[in-house]
Amino acid sequence: AKIHRHTFTIKSKTFTRLCDTKIILTVNGEFPGPTLKAHRGDKLIVNVINNANYNMTLHWHGARQVRNPWSDGPEYVTQCPIRPGERYVYRIDLTVEEGTIWWHAHSQWARATVHGAFIVYPKRGSSYPFPKPHREIPLILGEWWKKKNIMDIAGNANKTGGEPAISDAYTINGQPGYLYPCSKPDTFKMKVVRHRQYLLRIINAVMDEELFFAIANHTLTVVAKDGLYLKHFNTSYLMITPGQSMDVLLHANQRSGRYFMAARSYSSAFGAGFDKTTTTAILKYKRHSLADELNRKTPVLVLPYLPPYNHTEATTRFTNQFRSYRTRTSNRPVNVPVNINTRLLYAISVNLMNCSDDKPCNGPFGKRFSSSVNNVSFVNPTVDILRAYYRRIGGVFQADFPRKPPTEFNYTGENLPFPTRFGTKVVVLDFNSSVELVLQGTNVLASDNHPIHLHGYSFFVVGSGFGNFDRMKDPLKYNLVDPPEETTVGVPNNGWTAVRFVANNPGVWLLHCHIERHATWGMNAVFIVKDGPTKSSRMLKPPPDLPSC
Ligand code: C2O
Ligand code: CU
Repeated sequence: AKIHRHTFTIKSKTFTRLCDTKIILTVNGEFPGPTLKAHRGDKLIVNVINNANYNMTLHWHGARQVRNPWSDGPEYVTQCPIRPGERYVYRIDLTVEEGTIWWHAHSQWARATVHGAFIVYPKRGSSYPFPKPHREIPLILGEWWKKKNIMDIAGNANKTGGEPAISDAYTINGQPGYLYPCSKPDTFKMKVVRHRQYLLRIINAVMDEELFFAIANHTLTVVAKDGLYLKHFNTSYLMITPGQSMDVLLHANQRSGRYFMAARSYSSAFGAGFDKTTTTAILKYKRHSLADELNRKTPVLVLPYLPPYNHTEATTRFTNQFRSYRTRTSNRPVNVPVNINTRLLYAISVNLMNCSDDKPCNGPFGKRFSSSVNNVSFVNPTVDILRAYYRRIGGVFQADFPRKPPTEFNYTGENLPFPTRFGTKVVVLDFNSSVELVLQGTNVLASDNHPIHLHGYSFFVVGSGFGNFDRMKDPLKYNLVDPPEETTVGVPNNGWTAVRFVANNPGVWLLHCHIERHATWGMNAVFIVKDGPTKSSRMLKPPPDLPSC
C-alpha cells in the first residue's frame, strides 16, 4: 500500500468563460480541480489550506471512510468548517472502493467550482473486470454562471427559502463548448485512435440538474457506477444525476472524423426554471493509416441524439439496466442483506412553509421553500454532530428522528397537508443492524427526482417503482440476486426506491439529496451508527487538528 500526500490550497482565481471574466473559488487554481489517483488499498493524506475568504470543508464522495467520519467533510455534521487562513488534514484509507469517485466542497454552495475526479485503480497486481482500455479520460460535467459570484449562487435559497440562480452554461472538463458564445476554440477535445477502446470516467458535478449524455454515432458500454462495478450493458445515452459517476467504455469503431459528445438537462420538475442549454466536447479520430488518409473527408460535426428534457421514460429505461457485477448464485456472490431488522420509511418532499420572525420568506406565495424528510426540515447545528456525539455535548441534536412519516397518506396524490418543522434530528443505529430504507418521493409541491446520497456507505438498490410504496406487494418484486450497489440513487419522480445496507461503519453519516437546492431547503437526514464490540469496530479518535467552531 502506498501513501499519497497532496496539498490542496483553496484560493480564488480569475477565469474567462462566455465572453466574461470573473473570479471563482478553486483548489490549486484549477477548474475543475486536480484529479486524485490511487490504487485500492492505498492511503491519501490531503493537507487542505484555506486561503479563501470563506469557510470551507472537502468531502470525498464515494469514499467510505471506514471508522473515520472525522475526514468525511460535511460542515456541521462531521466537522466545523476550516476557517479562512486555517488548515486541516484529511485522511482517506481506500479499503473497499475501486473505480471513479470524486471530491467536492461540502460547505455552502462552494462545490459549484471546488470539485474534481478521484480515480481508484484496482489493487496493485489485479485488473479491471473488462479489457484494459487504451487510455482513460475523466469527463467532469459542470456548470458556469456568467456573473454570479460562486457564494451568491444560492441567492435567497439559504436564508429565505427562495430559488437559487440558474447557470448560464454546462461544461465538460471546465469548457462550455461549441454552442456557446466565445467558447468554440476552447472546446474540450478528446483524440482517439480507430479500433481502440477508451474508458470514460464521467462525473456529474452540476448543482441542480440531472443530465443526459451521449456521443454521436457511438454506442457506450456502462461498466460501473459510483465506483462499483455493474454488469456491462450497451446504451446510446446516459442519464446521470448530480453526485453520480459512471465508468463507460467507448469503442472508437466509427469512420475517422469528428463527433460531438453532448450533455443537457433532464428535468421532470413542473414549472421550475433550469438551464436549458447544451454543452459539447469533440471526439476526434487521429489519422494514422493510409485508409484513414484516403477517408480523410471529415464528416460534418453532428450532435448526438439526447432525449427531450422531460423524458422520464428514457430516464427509467436507462436506470433499470443497472445490475451488480456480482450475482448471488455465482462465485462472486453479492452481499445484499436478506434478514432485515431495521425498517425505515423516509418520505422526501419539497414543500412550502409559512414564514416566521426568525425564518423570513422569499419564496412563492409569500412562503418559503422547505424540503423535508419525514416532515423534518434539517437545520445545521452550530457545533458538528460528530463532535457533540463523541464528546457528549448536549443540546446539539435530538435522537428522535421519525422512522416513518408521522401520517400515512397518498404521497403521490394531489396536494395534501404535510406540515414541516425545522429540526436537527438523527436516527441512531446499532452496530451491524441490517437496514432497509425505503425512500418515498412525494408530490406535495413539485414532483422532482431526488438523487439521494449516503455518506460512509454504499447500499444495494433492491427495488424501485412509481406511485406509493406498497409494503405488502412491492417487496415480492425485489431483486436480491444482483441488485446494483450505489452511493447515490435517483429516487424517481413520484415514486419510491428501496435500499439495503448493513450498518457496519460506526460514525455520523449524512444522507441527503444531491440536488443542492433541495439539500439547502432541508432535505438531509443523519445516521449515527454506534461502535461495535471490538477495538477494530470502533470509531477512530478525532485528529488533533480538527477545526473548532
Ligand atoms: Cu457529494 Cu454529501 O455529497
Ligand atoms: Cu431532491
